[in-house]
Amino acid sequence: MYMQSFVELLGYENKSPEDPRALNEFLDLLIETRNRHNDVVPTMAQGVIEYKEKFGFDPFISSNIQYFLDRFYTNRISFRMLINQHTLLFGNDTNPAHPKHIGSIDPNCSVAEVVTDAYETAKMLCEQYYMVAPKLEIAEFNAKAPGKPIQVVYVPSHLLHMLFELFKNSMRASVELYENRLEELPPITTLVTLGKEDLSIKISDGGGGVPFRKIDRLFNYMYSTAPTPSLGTTQAVPLAGFGYGLPISRLYARYFQGDLKLYSMEGVGTDAVIYLKALSSESFERLPVFNKSAWRHYQTSPEADDWSNPSSEPRDASSKYKVNP
Ligand SMILES: Nc1ncnc2c1ncn2[C@@H]1O[C@H](COP(=O)(O)OP(=O)(O)O)[C@@H](O)[C@H]1O
Ligand SMILES: [Mg+2]
Repeated sequence: MYMQSFVELLGYENKSPEDPRALNEFLDLLIETRNRHNDVVPTMAQGVIEYKEKFGFDPFISSNIQYFLDRFYTNRISFRMLINQHTLLFGNDTNPAHPKHIGSIDPNCSVAEVVTDAYETAKMLCEQYYMVAPKLEIAEFNAKAPGKPIQVVYVPSHLLHMLFELFKNSMRASVELYENRLEELPPITTLVTLGKEDLSIKISDGGGGVPFRKIDRLFNYMYSTAPTPSLGTTQAVPLAGFGYGLPISRLYARYFQGDLKLYSMEGVGTDAVIYLKALSSESFERLPVFNKSAWRHYQTSPEADDWSNPSSEPRDASSKYKVNP
């Protein structure tokens, strides 16, 4: 698919952008290309599952796959951003709902509005699935311009994607924990803050949290706990899917120099924080490059662990010297 798309695009390398026919054909080609690559994420997820079944995996393989897929999906986010930008600006399907948007960019993106949008969409899914959904409480703290609503130059669809994933996760955890005492179901609270450098969005739930030990692997493509998905039926599990919600949302955040972090208090709940750059001059595109250090990343074999490891100690129950009980 990537070969075909690349070769087809090269056909336009020497055509004039002043030629309206070439421009129209190029537009169609871009739309075709975008459609061709619609299912790349589930296809790659299927590939990872098949690889795991056939060859198993170890920390070395897992870290290489993590490295590769993070970069691969970042590229995909970027390609699609460019394609969308082109089709919106050059296509005849202008966007009457958002006349102020520049392509897919909203120069005055109201964060609270996108939060509410994402919440409502997740709530609909959650109610379909569980008949109930946690309420939303939302607060804003504008430290830069007190009292003013918080806005940012951003791609609303990216923000919506991240928030939607976080709300789905929080809702699922909350409803499953409170299954038998739904009258006590805690709300999901969202705090949007703006400082000089950061625009932060914190989503807090009372869904019981995740043990600290497991937090990192929630972002790992190889540790997905979701049931083996089959292609084409991704709609069958509306609230949770491939286990790619978090890692891909984090890529969206990092794409414009932000980040996404999870802080959990096991037994109680989770805070998920999206960090965005407050200034558009700082939110430039973050793209992988293929150079010697990228190449080396795949070559270096893992070194021996240089910390003591209790599980590799002799497991002799009668030993007088028990290590790390
Ligand atoms: N707010 C949360 N509370 C408890 N567990 C969570 C929360 N967010 C994520 N998780 C755990 O992380 C896993 C991975 O999340 P995600 O990447 O969104 O994939 P998926 O939701 O498809 O499983 C979830 O299955 C869940 O076990
Ligand atoms: Mg999820």
